[in-house]
Amino acid sequence: MTAISLKDIRKSYGSLEVISNIDLDIERGEFVVFVGPSGCGKSTLLRMIAGLEGINSGDLLIGDMRANDIPPSQRGIAMVFQSYALYPHMNVYDNLAFSLKIARIDRAEIDRRVRIAADMLQLGPYLKRRPRQLSGGQRQRVAIGRAIVREAEVFLFDEPLSNLDAALRVATRIEIARLKERLPDTTMIYVTHDQVEAMTLADRIVVLNGGRIEQVGRPVELYDTPRNMFVAGFIGSPAMNFLPVDLAFEGGAARIEHGGRPLPLARFAAGGRAGRERGTLGIRPEHLRIGSAGQALVSGAVDLVEHLGEVTIAYLRLPGDISVTVKLERTQDLKKGEALHLTADPADLHAFDQSGSALARRGDAGAYA
Ligand SMILES: Nc1ncnc2c1ncn2[C@@H]1O[C@H](COP(=O)(O)OP(=O)(O)OP(=O)(O)O)[C@@H](O)[C@H]1O
Ligand SMILES: [Mg+2]
Repeated sequence: MTAISLKDIRKSYGSLEVISNIDLDIERGEFVVFVGPSGCGKSTLLRMIAGLEGINSGDLLIGDMRANDIPPSQRGIAMVFQSYALYPHMNVYDNLAFSLKIARIDRAEIDRRVRIAADMLQLGPYLKRRPRQLSGGQRQRVAIGRAIVREAEVFLFDEPLSNLDAALRVATRIEIARLKERLPDTTMIYVTHDQVEAMTLADRIVVLNGGRIEQVGRPVELYDTPRNMFVAGFIGSPAMNFLPVDLAFEGGAARIEHGGRPLPLARFAAGGRAGRERGTLGIRPEHLRIGSAGQALVSGAVDLVEHLGEVTIAYLRLPGDISVTVKLERTQDLKKGEALHLTADPADLHAFDQSGSALARRGDAGAYA
């Protein structure tokens, strides 16, 4: 069942269009994550769903009801913001209970809901404390608890963890993953800048750019088959490497020429294209490995090395001022200036045409190495 449906939604501030032609259906119980660069419209879109921003044109359906003109309090939606804004003079229990008291829900029912939320978020021991006596992660859990007690059908989260330090972020992320399991029928839309949050929490990720949807898909789908260079460069960290290549389309296939020689094992479909054009080869840093000069897909000199323990990240300079990032397992003894020859499995290569659209892969092929 569709919980939320956006149909050709638009929003402008004066002459500036910040949301353009958004079409999206979100299923009941789905966990959808919005990602995209700063200013692309993530918060605006969330606030439009919540009813905190007006919609210029298009239809917002909640369930099967047109909700454009329904006031926020009647949409069955609870929103959790980045700044948790708890009432400082109230203890945790009263912070959780507040909206229910305002709604004149009876005391026993309030108590039941507060206890359930506190239990889900492991806030039981802190119910008598004031917000200033809590850590940032505990405060954010109280803010999430305020959404839970309302028993809303839809939760909206706008970067709820971005004020937390790294360790707390991880702990609270796991808390949210558990929450999702305990509330399987609750629909959740979550905005984040964090790759790991997006990849681990989402049933589907929506990649936004300049007020438009670039691609919607399961996390692994976006990682494996990005539709264009924007999505390819946005999903994955460190970001995908892009190398300029020449594309020649012949008999339905695309031949890729790199550094004046063809890459015979990279098989892509022409998809109706013909002739020759400039294109781009995409390779994720984690898909490159060290090989010999003869088999190398790319060769370059090491410019900088980062040792992270579990992995080593090396930044290479290639002729033509192109930089390439490579992620290697464990600690590697690499020196600045050292020449590295890198290979990759052809199945891991991506190719993009002149306009940045991905070429479809044709079957599988053997490895370079
Ligand atoms: N009240 C407003 N008046 C005019 N422009 C606005 C207003 N609110 C937002 N904008 C503009 O709308 C665009 C989208 O803003 P929004 O806050 O939705 O971005 P975002 O994707 O949430 O960014 P961030 O990741 O930085 O939070 C931005 O260009 C912003 O400057
Ligand atoms: Mg925002």
